[in-house]
Parts: sequence; structure tokens; C-alpha cells
Amino acid sequence: MTPISGLAVALDTVSVDEASDWATAVAPHAELIKLGLEFYLRNGASGVAAVRESAPDCGLFLDLKLHDIPATVAGGARAVAALEPAVLTVHAAGGADMVAAASAELPKTTIAAVTVLTSLSAEDLAELGLPESEKLVPLWAATAVAAGAKAIVSSAQEVGALRSALGSEVSLITPGIRPAGTSSNDQSRVATPQRAIDAGANVLVVGRPITQSPDPEQAAAAVAAEIKGAL
Ligand code: C5P
Repeated sequence: MTPISGLAVALDTVSVDEASDWATAVAPHAELIKLGLEFYLRNGASGVAAVRESAPDCGLFLDLKLHDIPATVAGGARAVAALEPAVLTVHAAGGADMVAAASAELPKTTIAAVTVLTSLSAEDLAELGLPESEKLVPLWAATAVAAGAKAIVSSAQEVGALRSALGSEVSLITPGIRPAGTSSNDQSRVATPQRAIDAGANVLVVGRPITQSPDPEQAAAAVAAEIKGAL
């Protein structure tokens, strides 16, 4: 499987109509459209299928961050198999057998492992009895990849170290991307497309700078051009 790459637009809404409108607008410029937990819980597989009709040439990035015992995660993966997601996220914290179960269930899907949530501070990790993220992220990423994950989700700050540790076969998916000169919203660790790609990112996840722009189509075109220029 060649590592996936390009622009993934986060369609963060619970409205099928709004997500479909955004999908139509960004489709000519995006490789992937990302739908998350909120959207899935509200609208289910039929809602996801409806949005996909608006962007039939884009891959589906299903950001469900599955985390349970291997048999249950395998069942969850089976339950979304008909949607043929290009990418499905799982938590690396579920362990090697859980990641392997998802990968075995969906061999044509890039299983992407989320390591340490960027919302967890050093204090939060200590409270949970876990070491600092500098230790956990490379360890959990390597474990997930050895178990069959084809991609790792990480902040742009971690991409460089992960790329050196994991080699070129693994896709590094990076949210918190802000085109030069746009608002960081509530993201605390942002990077421009150029910086993320220079560090080794393959897939750049961009949401609000595109979806909340007065012209999402133009905004997606501009980010896609910035990505192509950086590659
Ligand atoms: O709107 P924005 O570009 O900040 O959206 C980023 C997307 O990436 C959202 O869907 C968000 O949930 C997701 N994400 C993130 N930071 C992480 C993991 C996922 O922003 N550490």
C-alpha cells in the first residue's frame, strides 16, 4: 500500500447538509474528507454515505478513534467496512492486538493510530501514571506500526522525530495546520503546511480555516496549492 498523502478536510459538523455542502466545495482540491465521532454518532453510516456522494472522488477519513478490546474493535471495523474508508483511526493505547484486529478486518483501509491525545498535559499524564509524551509517542507509534497501522496521527511538532524513527513507509497525518496568515482558533501547536511537510508529514488535516472561510472552495484551493508547492 503506498502511503496516503495530501489534503484532508475536517468536516466538523453534525449537519449532513452542511457537511455535504462543504464536501462539494472542497472535493476538487482535497484527497480526503474527514468525518468524526460527533457526525457519526448523530447521523450513522447513512449520513456518512450521503456526504460521500458530494465528493465521490475523495477518500473517506473516518475519525472514530476506536478503543476497546480487540474483538469489539474488530466488530466496529466490520460495521463500517461497507463505507470503504480510506483511513480509520484507532487509539494506539488499545495495544498491539487491538490495532492488529482492526488492520486484519480492513486490509484495504489505512489504519491510523492516535498516540497521546494532544489535549493531555504533562500533569495529566503523570496523574494517570504515564511517562511524558516524549517517551510515550515514539513507543506507542512503533508498537502500532508493528501491529499493522499504516499511519500515525501526530502534531507537526512530533512529525520529525516520528519520521526518523518509523521510516518512509508510514504516513504521518498532522492536524493543527494553519495556512500562513490565518487564525490558530483553539489549536495551541500549529504549523504551516510548508513546515509540516518539511518535517515529514504526508497528510495535512485542515478544518476551520477552510470550512469557516467565506469561500471554502477558494480556501481549499489555496491550501492545496500551498501543499503542492511544499512537496
Ligand atoms: O479546525 P481544525 O483545522 O483545527 O481541525 C482539526 C481537526 O483535527 C479536527 O477535526 C480535530 O478534531 C482534529 N484533531 C486535532 N488535534 C489532534 C487530533 C485531531 O485538531 N491532536
